[in-house]
Amino acid sequence: MSPDPQKTFYLETFGCQMNVHDSEKVIGTLVHEGYRQVQTVEDAGLVLYNTCSIRDKAEQKVFNRLNDYKKYQKQGKKFAVLGCVAQQEGEKIFERAPYVSMVCGSASYKNLPQMLVQIEAGNQRVTGLDDRETEDCFETEFTARTNPHRGYITIIEGCDKFCSYCVVPFTRGKERSRTTESVLAEARQMADLGYTEIQLLGQNVNSYKDPAGKRTFAELLAAVGEVPGIRRVRFTTSHPRDFGRDIIDAIDAVPTLCDHVHLPVQSGSDRILNAMQRLYTREQYLDRIAWMKSAKREISITSDIIVGFPGETQEDFADTLSLLDEVGYDAVFAFKYSPRPNTPSLALEDAIPDEEKIRRLEVVNTRQRAIQTANYKKYIGAISEVMVEGRNEARAQWMGRTSQNKTLNFTAPADAPPTIGSYVQVRATASFPNSLLGELVV
Ligand code: SAH
Ligand code: SF4
Ligand code: F3S
Repeated sequence: MSPDPQKTFYLETFGCQMNVHDSEKVIGTLVHEGYRQVQTVEDAGLVLYNTCSIRDKAEQKVFNRLNDYKKYQKQGKKFAVLGCVAQQEGEKIFERAPYVSMVCGSASYKNLPQMLVQIEAGNQRVTGLDDRETEDCFETEFTARTNPHRGYITIIEGCDKFCSYCVVPFTRGKERSRTTESVLAEARQMADLGYTEIQLLGQNVNSYKDPAGKRTFAELLAAVGEVPGIRRVRFTTSHPRDFGRDIIDAIDAVPTLCDHVHLPVQSGSDRILNAMQRLYTREQYLDRIAWMKSAKREISITSDIIVGFPGETQEDFADTLSLLDEVGYDAVFAFKYSPRPNTPSLALEDAIPDEEKIRRLEVVNTRQRAIQTANYKKYIGAISEVMVEGRNEARAQWMGRTSQNKTLNFTAPADAPPTIGSYVQVRATASFPNSLLGELVV
């Protein structure tokens, strides 16, 4: 179908990798429906925001953006809100932003073609708000991947964990997994197209359950790693409760499985972990860390932390700091607790003042920076394989990433530049808290 010049869209994505990948599928679907993607709101007939509501700030950003673009309403542009804010707020969005004509949560993307027809027909309030009853995953053959070398594959959608602070079970519906056959078919197809790195996605990949009952998550991981042409497999996010030792066994057995695990802990205090309904104790979490540390390859471990959860005392907070020391993470994403709609912890008094939350955040970040400075220093002199991801002209450096997911920028002889997407050996010569610098080994 040749694109109709009238049918143009602009799409902006907020939030996590699941959203980024959903947007790739939405873009593919729209293009298949005869739309053309443009790079500015000005050029677009249809403006879509794929939204995030994980913290209040993220949600505010979406409404600010919609407010900024109010002026375009008179020009006949149409607005659509997709993703987690769409599912959470539902039809209330039409009241708050009357020029929005479509509200669609991620569990309804499979209905996008019909919804687009309704918008074209002038329907002012098109909705796709399937709730937790959905059994289907959003599978499409039209995914418009933005990177030709590495790409995402969703293996499980939704979340059934209901951590007490988290909106995701309400915005993404109940857990549903794709069959391993369908995941493997997509991986093989990507390999045929020249992709060498695959990242398996889910809010909680460890609760993956093959509907056909053929493979466990660890077996699926190994099978993707054995697809000819695939050189790197990553997966995110892991929930500590469901993180089995078989995942480490798979990493040991299959060299293409990357030596990096993101295992969010949220807090180092058992009292707070319990209040968060995380379903594990500090000790159980540290058992999993011990498995990783006994792996054949050195596994890089990263995490997420929430500071200032209701009732978090100085003692609880000190437990989080001591856990950082004990694990020695290579990266930590720390957030201030943000009360979210529908979540159980909304009923708890959010009594820790913002200044104190900010202070705790800074303490975590400072402590973690020192840990990373020491961790990264150990690599000076070491040779690692990197995938070449780009070029920084201003610095005359190439940008690379190691299997451990560390950024390793490097210089290379001008007469033998590496190609983007290739794998090369790099010797690290200097370290920083978040990256390494090195030179191409020729
Ligand atoms: N499914 C993943 C990631 C969920 S969202 C997991 O279970 O770990 C990513 C991170 O956002 C979480 O790990 C948590 O640290 C943070 N987060 C989630 N809800 C939050 C809230 N209400 N306030 C602050 N941070 C939050
Ligand atoms: Fe949210 Fe917990 Fe599910 Fe992660 S596991 S998405 S933090 S409810
Ligand atoms: Fe945000 Fe939804 Fe992802 S709330 S973090 S976009 S699952």
